[in-house]
Amino acid sequence: MRFTPLPFARFVPLWCAASVFALAPLLADHSSGAEAIPDKAPTTGTPVDEALQRTRKQVRMIDGIYKHGIVLITENYVTEDTDMPAGVAFKKLFEAAKDNGWHEVRLIDATGEPYNDENSPLPGFEQRAVDVIKKGEAYYDEVFTEDGKRYLRAATAIPVVLPKCVMCHPHYEDAAPGAAIGVLGYKSLIE
Ligand code: HEC
Repeated sequence: MRFTPLPFARFVPLWCAASVFALAPLLADHSSGAEAIPDKAPTTGTPVDEALQRTRKQVRMIDGIYKHGIVLITENYVTEDTDMPAGVAFKKLFEAAKDNGWHEVRLIDATGEPYNDENSPLPGFEQRAVDVIKKGEAYYDEVFTEDGKRYLRAATAIPVVLPKCVMCHPHYEDAAPGAAIGVLGYKSLIE
């Protein structure tokens, strides 16, 4: 697990305002399968930004749920290239998540050859995330402020998990085993 140094030094006053400090090990949660997403501060003794840790934990959980859903649908319901791909179904689910104000999430290409250009990484965070994840990281995030509110932008790797993926994305065959061909990119309110 790699802790991605974040530009959250900028937010130190906010941490202090919260005045809820705890040591990282107390917050560590090893129950999730998505170990790649950091859930503890880099060094013992560093004040923990609890709201940020909670948001990361939420992203880790929802990322696991989405990915399990995509795999289950592909395994059980997608047999021909004319069937509705899980990616298409989940983009609808992502719209619902956004409409409900839960979070924003995008299915993003990391190969340079997307099925749908709409899924190309946008300049800025998405491109930075794809660059980092293509180098072999499983996770990347950044914290930023918009209209006075703090948000976590996070990206998690999507590898070619099933041979079936190649049915509709023939170029995935060229991907090294375990290499990311896409990312899920999240924007979540830190609260
Ligand atoms: C039945 C065909 C089909 C299968 C099987 C399929 N996909 Fe897709 N995939 C699509 C289509 C179509 C899109 C474009 C969806 C859109 O944007 O509306 C897409 C989009 C994507 C994207 C976003 C980038 C892009 O190419 O537009 C990723 C990443 C992706 N799929 C990964 C996977 C993975 C991983 C698997 C295997 C678990 C998989 N796909 C299986 C058809 C398929």
